[in-house]
Formats: sequence, C-alpha cells, structure tokens
Amino acid sequence: MKITKILPVVFSLLLVSPVFAQQKNTFKPQKAVLNTISANIMDADAQYKYLAKQIKPEEFPKTFHPETGKMENSNSGWWCSGFYPGTLLELYGQNHDEALKTEADRIMGVLAKEQFNTHTHDLGFMMYCSFGTANKLQPKPEYKQILLNSAKSLSTRFNPTVGCIKSWDSKKSDFLVIIDNMMNLELLFWATRETGDSSFYKIAVTHANTTIKNHYRPGFSSYHVINYNAETGAVQEKKTAQGFANESAWARGQAWGLYGFTVMYRETKDKKYLDQANNIAKFLLNNPNLPADKIPYWDFNATNIPNALRDASAAAIMASALLELCRYTGKTDAQTYFKTGETIIKTLSLPTYKAKPETNGGFILQHSVGHFPAGTEIDVPLTYADYYFVEAMERYKGFAGK
Ligand code: GLY
Repeated sequence: MKITKILPVVFSLLLVSPVFAQQKNTFKPQKAVLNTISANIMDADAQYKYLAKQIKPEEFPKTFHPETGKMENSNSGWWCSGFYPGTLLELYGQNHDEALKTEADRIMGVLAKEQFNTHTHDLGFMMYCSFGTANKLQPKPEYKQILLNSAKSLSTRFNPTVGCIKSWDSKKSDFLVIIDNMMNLELLFWATRETGDSSFYKIAVTHANTTIKNHYRPGFSSYHVINYNAETGAVQEKKTAQGFANESAWARGQAWGLYGFTVMYRETKDKKYLDQANNIAKFLLNNPNLPADKIPYWDFNATNIPNALRDASAAAIMASALLELCRYTGKTDAQTYFKTGETIIKTLSLPTYKAKPETNGGFILQHSVGHFPAGTEIDVPLTYADYYFVEAMERYKGFAGK
C-alpha cells in the first residue's frame, strides 16, 4: 500500500485512541450553569458555617432528621468523618474564606488519631478526603505523615491470598469486601508517589483486579458484598447489605465503582480500567430505570419505581466521576458523560434537592438514602452527598478554566 493510503488510516486510529482523545475533546460549560455554581458555592459557604454550629467540639456531622428537626452526629471513627473537613476545604479552595479553613483545621485535629485505626477499610474516605485535600491545597509535612500512616494502617487489611483489602471485620472464616472499597485506593497511590514504595500501588492494583473478577456481573452492574474464604481466596457468597436484593444494582455501589475505576485509570493509565469505567457508565446511563433528571433511585431494581426514593448521594458521586471520565474517553461518550454530569449538577441545584439556608441541619443537599434495608438514614442529607456535589461543581468549573 502506498504511504498516501496508509496515512489517513493511521490518523483515524490516533483519533479514536484515548490518549489522543484526552487532548482533543472539547467541552462547553454553559454560562447559566457556571452562574448557578457560583451561587451554590456562596450558599454552601454560609450553610456550612451554620452546620458548624450544630456540632459539639469533638463531633462530626452525620445527618439531620427533617421529621424531628434533630441532628445526628458521630465521633471520628465513623466512616464519614473526613467528608465534613473535606467539604470545608473544597469550598475554601474555591472562595478562599479563611473561616472555612479554620474550622477544617480544627476538626482535622480531632480526626488525626484515626491514622492508626486498623479496624476500618474506610481510611481513604476518612483521611484522603480531608488531609489529602488539605495537602493538595497547601502541602505540609504533618499532613503527609498522617496520610502515610493512614496508608500503612489501610495496607494491614490486605490479604494476598484473597487479593483484596478486607472491608468489614466479621467471623474468622469470612473475608468481606464491598464495592465501596474501590474508593479507598486513591490514598495508596498517593503513598507510592510520595515515598517511592511500590507496595501500596501493588495492593491497589491487586484489589482492583480481584474486584473486576468477582464483583461485576456480565452487564457491568456490581454486587455490593463478596464474601471470600480468608484462607483459600475462594468466593463463598455474593450478596448485598445496603441494596434491595443480592442480585440488584444498589445505586451508590454502582457510583462507587464508576468513580473507583476512573481513579484507577488516572493513576495507572492501564486501559483495562478505562474500559471498566466506560462499561459501568454505560450500565448506568443506558439503564431504563435512570430518570431523565439523572438522579437515580436508591436501587436500580427497587420494586416501587417510579415511586422509589431517589438517592442524591449516588447522583453526586456519578456526576463527579463522569466529569473526570469524560477527559479520558472517546469523543461521543465524552460528550454524553459531560452532559450527564451537567444535568445532575443542574438537578441538584433545584429547590427539590438544594436546601434553603439554615434548614436541613446545615447540609447542602436533601434526599439521600444511607441504608434502606436497615431502616437508617432514609431520605435525609448525608455528608458525602455534599462532598461529591461540591467536587463535581469544582470539576465542571475546571472546564471553563476557573
Ligand atoms: N460506604 C458505605 C455507603 O456507601 O453507604
């Protein structure tokens, strides 16, 4: 074949490659959405100052019960303790209000002891969303030491025979791993980058590979919990804890997976993870049970759809993940992801979801579902809905160079 015939073929192959796509995709943030985001950030600033008044010095906000008007707070060991300082810092990063940074520093002083907690897999959420964000804004040796200790504590839960980090402690014969655990791996990548010790990186990659193998169904929906045999690594059970049924697609679990594999691709550049994230995105976005406003029902297989409760937290996580994934993927999918992230931001900014000032206990968003089967945190605000909503808005602004 003549060179003049080969060149167009080579050129079109380059166009569809993800690396090239990353440089070529252009996204057009809408001025109206950017204005909504500016207003949301100002409102969230005031709202989080109000939230700060609802907690005692050692407490972390957990949720608010609209029917009783009561706050529910936690101690630093609760898996969500990093989201409150994380949200304060994300807001501070956007509007430089020193009062938010002061409150974040204060509460991180209470949180710091969790760096040595080896009884939870949630250290990524707890420590990376807080100290990791603080360290990105203003790197400090003390933040780095806390993050490194946290990565070491998390690594103690890795079992090489299973190929996973243990999520929940339970009886000795069980080794329970939940899809949410994908979110804790970012801390390990940070630790390898920071120290040059590849053992953290290897744990993250092994955990992700085992998760692809055992958590995902052929259509790229995910089980919530896999129970492994701790001695042989064999799968003993595939089930749910927070979803509607063992074979259902619990919405937040799907969102954790989407976000987690997007981070895996960012950190490794291994196309296998990009494919996984794209396939999860297709499961979500082509799902006939995803409403037009893109806020999922709490479980894609809840029996009372369209009357099932929505989960704003799953929507916020999806928006943030899609607004990163669109940077890595081919043109058509990239625009769909960008527009879906945008739609979610627009929907969550409406009065249905965004609380009026000094209501909702001081949380930004209403209508999330924590643990439906346990009957807890149903149709309430949750700290992680706020955190990923603020992160999604920040990512959207990034496309306008702001
Ligand atoms: N990691 C627990 C949850 O998503 O509710």
